[in-house]
Amino acid sequence: MTDRVEAYIDENQDRFIEELKQFMRIPSVSAQEKHDADTRACAQWVVDHLKGLGFQAGLIDIGGKPIVRAAKKGKSSKRVLIYGHYDVQPEDPVGEWKTPPFEPTIRDGILYGRGATDDKGQVFTHFKAVESLLKTEGGLPCEVLFLLEGEEESGGDALARYVSQAKDELKADAVVVSDSTMYDANTPAITYGLRGIIALEAIVRGPASDVHSGAYGGGVANPAMVLAQILAACVSREGKVLVPHFYDDVVPLQDWERQSFRKLNFNDGALAKELNVPHLHGESGYSTLERLWARPTFEVNGIFGGYQGQRSKTIIPASATAKITCRLVSNQDPARVRDLVIEHIRSVCPNTVRLEINEFGASPPVLFDVNNPMIRAAQEAIRKGFSRDTVFIRCGGSIPVVSTFVEQLGCPVVLMGFGLDSDGPHGPNEHFSLDSFRRGTKAAAQLLRMT
Ligand code: BES
Ligand code: ZN
Repeated sequence: MTDRVEAYIDENQDRFIEELKQFMRIPSVSAQEKHDADTRACAQWVVDHLKGLGFQAGLIDIGGKPIVRAAKKGKSSKRVLIYGHYDVQPEDPVGEWKTPPFEPTIRDGILYGRGATDDKGQVFTHFKAVESLLKTEGGLPCEVLFLLEGEEESGGDALARYVSQAKDELKADAVVVSDSTMYDANTPAITYGLRGIIALEAIVRGPASDVHSGAYGGGVANPAMVLAQILAACVSREGKVLVPHFYDDVVPLQDWERQSFRKLNFNDGALAKELNVPHLHGESGYSTLERLWARPTFEVNGIFGGYQGQRSKTIIPASATAKITCRLVSNQDPARVRDLVIEHIRSVCPNTVRLEINEFGASPPVLFDVNNPMIRAAQEAIRKGFSRDTVFIRCGGSIPVVSTFVEQLGCPVVLMGFGLDSDGPHGPNEHFSLDSFRRGTKAAAQLLRMT
């Protein structure tokens, strides 16, 4: 049976891609002040685009980056809230891009550029799904409410504040999010768990300024070495986090999950090869998927201090800094874990240095029951759009506002992602398969029809 909506999506593919490229050309890097105007321009571009599709759309400014809100009524009284983010990560390391990050380029059926997969390309599947329904069926099957934020990548809380304030007028039958991944290029997936996150930095301060390591070495603590010792006291060589009580609230995997992870036949060797590491590593006693999806971690995102230039320079640095994040899983409470981690770092830090700890954002993990009707509908929609069966997965990443949707709106959340971990989100040469873009658009349209 030919499906007019799917045929429209096929026929208009080239134009959809050109429009997505326009969206990707706007460098909406939320973390960097120099891009504040671009970020706002990008939000306005989205508003204009959705107005062009007949939506009532506008920006909401409540501090932080603007929120795009756009709504259009449908044939039924049901309402689907579609969330995404229009901001992107900084372009660095800029020298490693084969083509410039904000000049989207297609090579071999793959679209390269910042935001291709995270999240502009995925958001755009929903824009084009609604367009296709409107153009072929004369209306939407249900009301669609888009809420797009501009600070997902930089830890902002504007959308969480807005959702909490406006929860009564945001009531929906489901929240749909495409900001996660498929299991692999041939296996679409529904994500039923995301990890949470806490972020901190630890700064170890020693001498008032960098000093001669011959004159003073041996007489005073070296902040870089102290920092290394602190970090080494946080995770064992076997990958266990050594912070007391860190694992107390972790919900163990259920039997069905362990079995379903095993059935996915994850290939450790292929991952090691993809990442170009000699061997994988992680908490002992757990499979790779269990470690990536269902176990918490302590990670160092960056470490610096002292001399970074050519050859050698004999100093004891005045300070050393580590940027730290912990990924959390249900039912770890970000505030509690943050306190535990800070307390542990303080307790292992010697009194020969001064320690400063700064806290950044935090967000809780989420875990959904896969047996809800919306998730079943999404499974069917993806089966139609991709002509393939879906699997249930968890993802290791975090989408902070999802827990706010759960708490404030109390409706089911469907995480229907079309990207791949190997798409290079946050890194150089980020990309998105145009085949996934097309199939994802079809799945998004089918889901609205089934609501
Ligand atoms: N799209 C990602 C989250 C993601 C990554 C989901 C991989 C599933 C698989 C999202 O845009 C993201 O990167 N979030 C940040 C949040 C952080 C800045 C608070 C993350 O996970 O690091
Ligand atoms: Zn994202």
